[in-house]
Amino acid sequence: MNEITATHVAAAGTAVRQLSPYQPTVGLVLGSGLNALADSIQNPHIIPYEQIPHWPASTVPGHGGRLVIGQLEGQTVLVQQGRAHFYEGYSMSHITLPVRVMRFLGIQTLIVTNAAGGINAAFQPGELMLITDHINFLGIAGHNPLRGPNEDSFGPRFPDMTRPYDLHLRQIALEVAQARGFTLQQGVYGYVAGPSFETPAELRFLRAVGADAVGMSTVPEVVVARHGGMRVVGISSITNKADPDPQPGTTVTHDEVLETGKQIVPNLMALIRGILLRI
Ligand code: HPA
Repeated sequence: MNEITATHVAAAGTAVRQLSPYQPTVGLVLGSGLNALADSIQNPHIIPYEQIPHWPASTVPGHGGRLVIGQLEGQTVLVQQGRAHFYEGYSMSHITLPVRVMRFLGIQTLIVTNAAGGINAAFQPGELMLITDHINFLGIAGHNPLRGPNEDSFGPRFPDMTRPYDLHLRQIALEVAQARGFTLQQGVYGYVAGPSFETPAELRFLRAVGADAVGMSTVPEVVVARHGGMRVVGISSITNKADPDPQPGTTVTHDEVLETGKQIVPNLMALIRGILLRI
């Protein structure tokens, strides 16, 4: 499906409402290997994606396929356990339908997570990075999720992107990490299509233009969330080094991404809980 319209969003949103009477106020998107986070939701209503019209299913190992709606730290949250990616063959408009549905349901705050390769040499696998800004390589090249006729009920034709990641929520995240005693790196997330990992020359390019981490998700969702006026906080799990000068014999594999992702879950969970407590 190429164009998602207000009709598709209303159909999907109405189905979610019928399946769960909760009124979530915070949306949470879980990236590769971060599935376990959804297990902490209290009194969950679980909605498999197949039950929601037009919802893009994730075909990637390590990504669940359901919404979990319930309580976490006193907030009613809607957790998207598994996301669809552009490299799976979906249109940009289709992979961002879930964020449109969140907005339809009245959600104003979006917490997005992902697995990312650490380009910045100071970042170690197993650390978290607070996203301060992004480079939308696909968007710059023409694959922006807002391409096509603007749906005025979604947002303006030319949305501002001066501050995509909310300063107040970022400050809270930094304070939570400090209070819990773990490192929260900060940096720019470079969005690439994948699914092949980057060559050393591509990583040198990404580093030169200011990317601290690289990944294959998140940015389309953030663009759409900002289009709809939602406030956004983004957190990358640095699952591997994305090394522009790799040692002989080093490789990057999806299994490594999933395994390190799992190890980061406790800190990520603490961060998300801390943020939820304070918003
Ligand atoms: N590159 C792109 N996407 C990723 C990586 C990476 O090294 N690690 C996790 N997601």
